[in-house]
Amino acid sequence: MTRSAILGLGHYVPSKVVTNDDLAKMFDTSDEWIQQRTGIKERRYIEESGIGPSDLAVPAVKMACENAGIEVSDVDAIIFATLSPDFTFPGSGCFLGDKLGLAGVPALDIRNQCSGFLYGLQIADAWVRCGMYERVALVGGEVHSTGLDFTDEGRDVAVLFGDGAACAIVGPAENDDQGVLDVEVHADGSGAKELWIEAPASAYMPRITHEMIDNRSVWPAMNGKQVFRWATTKMPEVARAVLERNETTVADIDLLVPHQANRRINEFVAQKLELPPEKVVHNIQRYGNTTAASIPLALSEAIQQERAKKGDLILMAAFGSGFTWGASLVRL
Ligand code: UT7
Repeated sequence: MTRSAILGLGHYVPSKVVTNDDLAKMFDTSDEWIQQRTGIKERRYIEESGIGPSDLAVPAVKMACENAGIEVSDVDAIIFATLSPDFTFPGSGCFLGDKLGLAGVPALDIRNQCSGFLYGLQIADAWVRCGMYERVALVGGEVHSTGLDFTDEGRDVAVLFGDGAACAIVGPAENDDQGVLDVEVHADGSGAKELWIEAPASAYMPRITHEMIDNRSVWPAMNGKQVFRWATTKMPEVARAVLERNETTVADIDLLVPHQANRRINEFVAQKLELPPEKVVHNIQRYGNTTAASIPLALSEAIQQERAKKGDLILMAAFGSGFTWGASLVRL
């Protein structure tokens, strides 16, 4: 069976920079609190209404195709991981395919939040290995800024998230040294309501009411401490499982590219894995948490900055809403 590989990466963030001080003008928070608890200094927001995750994904896919040495028209399948789709339906993948001129190319949206890229990578890897598709555009894209509660009541969540998109082109490995070596993903829905948006909901009749708006069910709600505890347990656990199954030690890893939810979580994970700080990628200080986009965005930047290069062994790990979590080992 042909092994799959990440053939090229690309990313795009909107131009509007929103600093912690900008947020402190809207609600009761401070640059000091945000930096100390999360490591975030600024994040990007879309410039105006009408820009969805599929719009952010267009330049990300084009950059990924260029880096993979293929034309956009070579893409034969799209996987779009997002928790903030352009519209409830159809999926963002359909909008993206249209914007890229890929009529007829299948487009699968997946809803696995911060672990979305790893879930998508497992699907893309299986498709390529069985010969179904050869040029999969695996996209993570989010527009969070239109769905945050910029008041004192929503401040715990509002400071964390930012907008952005990134793409990996997944196709057959070009040589034996390269490839997606393993992907392991998990979910435990007992934690679903620890990080979620309750409304609008198909489970309610009607799906949305004035009362839901008044009681704040329309905004993301998070039990931060619980998420923190789970993330710092599950990310090292699944990363270790993947390393052991592949008879790889921490010393073999060139770079850990973790989901960017909180710099403290990632420092904790690195410490538990006994990985030195210089082997860990952090870009949360500039982008906040971009959810499904965060891992490919961090890896794409690491390659651009020549921190990661062909032949490097990359460990990725994520934890997020669902709860969902996972890890992957990739030789670039
Ligand atoms: O992708 C996965 C998604 N999310 C995560 O991974 C998040 C995981 N959790 C976390 O990162 C942390 O729990 C947070 C950064 C969200 C919060 O840090 P914390 O140390 O758990 O703070 P806390 O929620 O216990 O709040 C401490 C205090 C509270 O005040 P009191 O009760 O001590 O007076 C909060 O009201 O900080 C207050 N607070 C804020 N203060 C200023 C909460 N949010 C803010 C804020 N600015 N934005």
